[in-house]
Amino acid sequence: MWLCFVYLLDAEHTGGAMQSISKIDEQLRMTANAMVSHDKGLLAMDESVATCNKRLAKQGIPQTVETRRRWRELMVTTPSLQESISAVILFDETIRQQTTDGKPFAQFLTDAGIIPGIKVDTGATEMARHPGEKITEGLDGLRLRLAEYAGMGARFAKWRAVISIGNGIPSHGCIEANASALARYAALCQETGVVPVVEPEIIMDGEHSMQQCFDVSEKVLRTVFKELYHQRVMLEGMILKTNMVLPGLSCPKQESTDDVADATVQCMLRAVPAALPGIAFLSGGQSSEQASARLNAINIRYKSHTPWALSFSFARAIQQPAMGIWNGREENVAAAQKALQHRAKCNLLARRGL
Ligand code: 13P
Repeated sequence: MWLCFVYLLDAEHTGGAMQSISKIDEQLRMTANAMVSHDKGLLAMDESVATCNKRLAKQGIPQTVETRRRWRELMVTTPSLQESISAVILFDETIRQQTTDGKPFAQFLTDAGIIPGIKVDTGATEMARHPGEKITEGLDGLRLRLAEYAGMGARFAKWRAVISIGNGIPSHGCIEANASALARYAALCQETGVVPVVEPEIIMDGEHSMQQCFDVSEKVLRTVFKELYHQRVMLEGMILKTNMVLPGLSCPKQESTDDVADATVQCMLRAVPAALPGIAFLSGGQSSEQASARLNAINIRYKSHTPWALSFSFARAIQQPAMGIWNGREENVAAAQKALQHRAKCNLLARRGL
């Protein structure tokens, strides 16, 4: 009898646990799908303090906590942003900030029908004994940080690994270490009910050809998905954010928009499992127009032929024109917001592939 009671208790316990796990999985699937549905995409505004300051400095705008807050407020409060943008990636400083009216940014976005998310890696640093290569840090204490961010309203997270192409690089060690960190981060996110945006980025800087970018992208993506499998990450509840397949910025041969679209989708088809809801491309230093044109070509040629949505998660390609117009001045806010809205809309149309 006692044994039977223990068994029942145990069964109940297991049943409960299974139920709550599948509830989390269901929530992850729903959030991931919502992030890539209706032809909308992500606005990345998760620059670290140093990167945001660098961009402000380039425009001659003072680099203070308050100017960063005002810049982020301008973006978050852009009218009709939710018509083109499904989700916004915030940074630790930003998720703790509020609009001038005192509403936390994450709350403001949620109320506007936009899903707030958060960058959780702590940046890429030089990789030991791997000159010219970087490893992304941030796993220490991540479980607790994720719980805190989820409490602030974040429903997804982002972790960026950077891979450079050059003489003898990327090395196997660099690819493996970054892929492993991405997968461990993704598993921790899913445990918390937060959708991981898994971002391996092949950097555009360099003289490498589009074929080299193709080969490295394929290798990196295959390694990342192998690690995600080993860490039991549910592919239906995550988003891949990655680079388009492009020639290096200093490569003398620059392929056409259609060639870039073909190479990009061919590479993804080889390396990205069909269970994934969507791929969100980063802009990576392309001009705003170029990034939209290439996304448009990708969707014109492949929209209904791929198992996943072909979306965007742009920072520079959406923000840059607006920042130039704003110039740190209150009287330019409306015009800057119009420019931001315009870029967001261009990318919505590019997703439709018209
Ligand atoms: P860019 O679109 O500027 O490359 O930024 C993407 C990114 O990784 C920021 O989250």
